[in-house]
Amino acid sequence: MKINQIKPWVNEAEANYIKKIVQKTYLTEGDETLKFEKYFIKNFKVKHSISISNWTSGIFACLKALNIGKNDEVIVPNLTFVATTNAIILAGATPVLCDVDENNLCLDLNKINNKISKKTKAIIPVHLYGHCCDMDKLNKICKKKKLYLIEDAAQAIYSTYKKKFLGTIGILGGFSFYGNKIITTGEGGLILTNSSKLRNKIYEIKNHGRLKKGIFVHKEIGYNFMFTEMQAAIGNIQVKKLKKILKRKKEIFETYKKGLSTIKSISFMQNLAKNKPVHWFSNIFTKDKLKLKKFLEKNKIQTRDIFLPLNLQPCYRKYKIIKNIKDRFPVSNKIFNTGLSLPSSYNLKNSELNLIINKIKKFYSLK
Ligand SMILES: Cc1ncc(COP(=O)(O)O)c(C=O)c1O
Repeated sequence: MKINQIKPWVNEAEANYIKKIVQKTYLTEGDETLKFEKYFIKNFKVKHSISISNWTSGIFACLKALNIGKNDEVIVPNLTFVATTNAIILAGATPVLCDVDENNLCLDLNKINNKISKKTKAIIPVHLYGHCCDMDKLNKICKKKKLYLIEDAAQAIYSTYKKKFLGTIGILGGFSFYGNKIITTGEGGLILTNSSKLRNKIYEIKNHGRLKKGIFVHKEIGYNFMFTEMQAAIGNIQVKKLKKILKRKKEIFETYKKGLSTIKSISFMQNLAKNKPVHWFSNIFTKDKLKLKKFLEKNKIQTRDIFLPLNLQPCYRKYKIIKNIKDRFPVSNKIFNTGLSLPSSYNLKNSELNLIINKIKKFYSLK
């Protein structure tokens, strides 16, 4: 049997609960969604949480709420999933890329100052694979240059920086609940903020430009990024599993790290001391990536590449929509060439974990 790189932990618990919710017949955003949102307000020590159809729309809604659009620039790391950039493009603004740090794969703040121009309105740090950059330093830069800080914490639910939850440090932040994320609602996302004004603006943006359903005079232009009770039902079971998922993912990461410690050409991500990361995926870095990937594939072990850097994405090269796509991004490009995500699911068995480690050791002994 093949070992998957990632698989959600969804079972009868979600199936039985969703049946109960569906039987109530109210399927659009309602009480179940409110319950889901309240979980985050309580556990993430934040004033407001707004559920959203997915986090891509969430980033777009955050930018719209801050009036960021045409003629504005937004700085993002060159290493992220394309959704971060595409939401900026959808809002009509121009993405500007910044290279990442080799250890934590997040924004390299030593390289960010010369990316800031008169047009820059915001910086979106992406907490890639549950890690983060020096958020104090980034906050200082944003304050000094009067820029908004919007956190893309899609992959970092429950990761902290100086005991503060990632996603709650900037003016706005949010999570993704896509199928492969730490917890899932199928599709879905959540925005976090301490600003009541922004909470209301975002709610209007996601609800056709109105603060309440059932009203047909619309003072603002809005869209439909509403959540559903089915998503919330799954989410409310998933949050009960969250601590267990994070614990297991940490164990998986530590087992790989220990098991592969004798292989000198393999390295791991390193978090900042102030960051307590979560381990969405366990990644390794090796110059033998391609051969190792093929070898593992032959042995029915699925792996995944690190994200293709944005400057190398065919879509952005074709449409010339990114300001500095022709710059050099040596670190993110190197990370792509060496990085591999190993199987990292909650349900990964210890026997499978040991098998993967032994296969990797075998690959290196064969070389
Ligand atoms: C870093 C990052 N940003 C944004 C997104 C977009 O989230 P969604 O799939 O919920 O739209 C994802 C994941 O899909 C992601 O990994």
